[in-house]
Parts: sequence; C-alpha cells; structure tokens
Amino acid sequence: MDLGVESVDALEGKKVMLVPYMREHVPRYHEWMKKPELLLATGSDPLTLDQEYEMHLSWTKDPKKHTFIVLDKELIKGGFVCGEPHIEAMVGDVNIYMNDPDVFQVAEIEIMIAEPKSRGKGLGEESVLMMMASAVKKYGIQTFRAKISESNIASLKLFHKLGFKEASRSDVFKEVTLELLVADRAVNDSILS
Ligand SMILES: CC(C)(COP(=O)(O)OP(=O)(O)OC[C@H]1O[C@@H](n2cnc3c(N)ncnc32)[C@H](O)[C@@H]1OP(=O)(O)O)[C@@H](O)C(=O)NCCC(=O)NCCS
Repeated sequence: MDLGVESVDALEGKKVMLVPYMREHVPRYHEWMKKPELLLATGSDPLTLDQEYEMHLSWTKDPKKHTFIVLDKELIKGGFVCGEPHIEAMVGDVNIYMNDPDVFQVAEIEIMIAEPKSRGKGLGEESVLMMMASAVKKYGIQTFRAKISESNIASLKLFHKLGFKEASRSDVFKEVTLELLVADRAVNDSILS
C-alpha cells in the first residue's frame, strides 16, 4: 500500500493530507464536537470555544500527543499549500498519545472522520495507516492501542481490518481495548510498505 511521502510537517497519502492541528482549525473542530453522536463515539466532553482553544494549545505543547487534521484531497481548493490550514477540506482528525512516560514505544491512536459525507471512502483507514507509519519511523512505536466503545461497530471493524486484536474489555466503561504489535512481520509490511 502506498502511504505517501512526508513534506515538512504534512503527510500526503492517496486520498488524504494530514496536516498539524492549527489554531485556524479550532472553530470547525469545535462545531464538530458539539454533535452528541461524535461526543459519544469519541468519549469526549463538550467544551466551549475558549476551552477548545485552550485544549488546542495544551495539545500543541505536549510532546506525548500528536494531532493531525485530515484533509480530503478532493476538497482542497486551488492546490495544497504547505502551512495553510485548508479549512475547506478538513473532514476529521487522527492522533496518537504516548500516555505512559516509561513506555514510549506504546501509543494510543484515535481517528475521527467527522463529516458524514466523507465517511465510507477509505479516508479513515488511510489516515490511521499513515499516522502509524509516521509514528513507527519518528518515535519507534512498537505497539498501538485503540480504546473503542463496544457499540461503535464502524470503528471496531476498521481497527480489526488493520490487524488489531482484542487485548481487554471493560464491562464498566463498555469499552474494548484493541492492540496491534508492529513486530508482527505482516503488520510491519502493511504499515511501512
Ligand atoms: C469509524 C470511522 C473513523 C471510519 O472512517 P471511514 O473513513 O468512514 O472508514 P473507511 O471508509 O476508511 O472504512 C475502512 C473500514 O472500516 C470499516 N467501516 C467503516 N465504516 C463502517 C460502517 N459504517 N459499518 C461497518 N464497518 C465500517 C470497514 O471495515 C471498512 O472497510 P471496507 O470498506 O473494506 O468494508 C468514522 O466512521 C468515524 O469517524 N465515526 C465517528 C467517530 C468515531 O467513531 N471515531 C472512532 C472513535 S475510537
């Protein structure tokens, strides 16, 4: 699978560009995160716009968190310009979080394709693969984890399709933790090829 080339801070795939989450993206991101179904699917709490700006600032300062905005390449107007936010094409986000300071090789990964019209086109799958490939190369990540609500069939199927396996289940939070070990040769090939 062609995972594209990296140009400065953006990652280019066949269908998506991943660009760093910029301050200019915050208002639209905030609109998405008002929707109850997205709050539920991502396990997020509603924030005010000011809180969203604060959250953005804290994420950009946190070396353990790396958040990219997913741009649908078909929606980019006038050609991609590196450093531009391209709000017209933003459809979701993908991020990794290295939450255990002692185990930097483990990262939690999250994906959201927020715009319903952009779902089912392979953008989520490509974004996750690109994010993982970048995290393996840049940070030496060896294990990816995804925490997904038991009721989120689309997301469960996406991560299972990519080779993630169930590692644990919380009956209290109604959540499944899936894991993917990069050391698995077949996995390595599909991420990095
Ligand atoms: C889950 C989500 C990320 C999928 O993104 P997407 O771009 O629509 O998915 P893709 O088109 O890349 O599909 C890839 C695979 O995911 C699975 N999938 C995606 N949408 C699905 C759906 N509605 N029902 C069942 N499986 C689905 C399929 O296995 C699909 O492979 P296939 O096309 O060969 O069947 C997206 O629907 C979303 O963001 N939903 C809301 C937020 C969310 O749930 N985030 C995850 C929190 S952990």
